[in-house]
Amino acid sequence: MEDIKVLYSEDEVERRIKEIGNEITNKYRDEDVVLICILKGAVVFFAELAKHINNKNLKFDFMKVGSYGSRTESTDEITFSLDISSDIKGKHVIIVEDIIDSGYSLDYVKKCLSLKEPDSIEICVLLDKESRRKVNVQVDYTGFVIDDLFVIGYGMDYDEKYRNLPYIGYIEK
Ligand code: IMP
Ligand code: MG
Repeated sequence: MEDIKVLYSEDEVERRIKEIGNEITNKYRDEDVVLICILKGAVVFFAELAKHINNKNLKFDFMKVGSYGSRTESTDEITFSLDISSDIKGKHVIIVEDIIDSGYSLDYVKKCLSLKEPDSIEICVLLDKESRRKVNVQVDYTGFVIDDLFVIGYGMDYDEKYRNLPYIGYIEK
C-alpha cells in the first residue's frame, strides 16, 4: 500500500478550476470552442472545468494518447489510440490535460491538431511540473505549478489506481 499525502484539497482544486473557467468564459464569450479532453487522466478536471465555462457554443471532444515509457518516466515515443470525432476547422480549440511533465505528449497532440486547421489552439493543464520540461510547449492556463512529485487523484493514476480520489495527492518516494 502506497503512502499518500495531500497536495491540494478538493476545495483548493475546485476553487482554482472555477477561476480558470471564468477566464475562458471571458476570453471566448459565445464563440465556437471545442474543449478536448485527453483521456484518461484529464477526465475529472475536464468535467469540472466545463461546468464553469459559460459559452452556449462550446462542444466536447476526446482523444487518447499514451507513451511507450515506463509508468513514471516520460518518453518522446507517443502513441495515439483515439482521435477526435468532430471537425475543428475554423474553431477555437482548448486542449485539456491533467499534467505536463516533459511536454512531449502535449507537443505531439498540438502538432496533430494543428493539421486540422483550427482557428486557434490553447492548452489548459491542471498541473505543471515546470522543472522537468524537455520540449518547449506554450501552456495558456495552469492550475498549479508543482515540484517534481509523483501525483495521483483527480483523474491521475498510479498503475491505473487512485483516479477516483477527489483531491490531488502524491506518493512518497
Ligand atoms: P509528458 O509527455 O512527459 O509531458 O507527460 C505527460 C503525461 O505523463 C501526463 O498526461 C500523465 O499521464 C503522465 N504523468 C506525468 N507525471 C505524472 C504524475 O506525477 N502522475 C501521474 N501521471 C503523470
Ligand atoms: Mg495524461
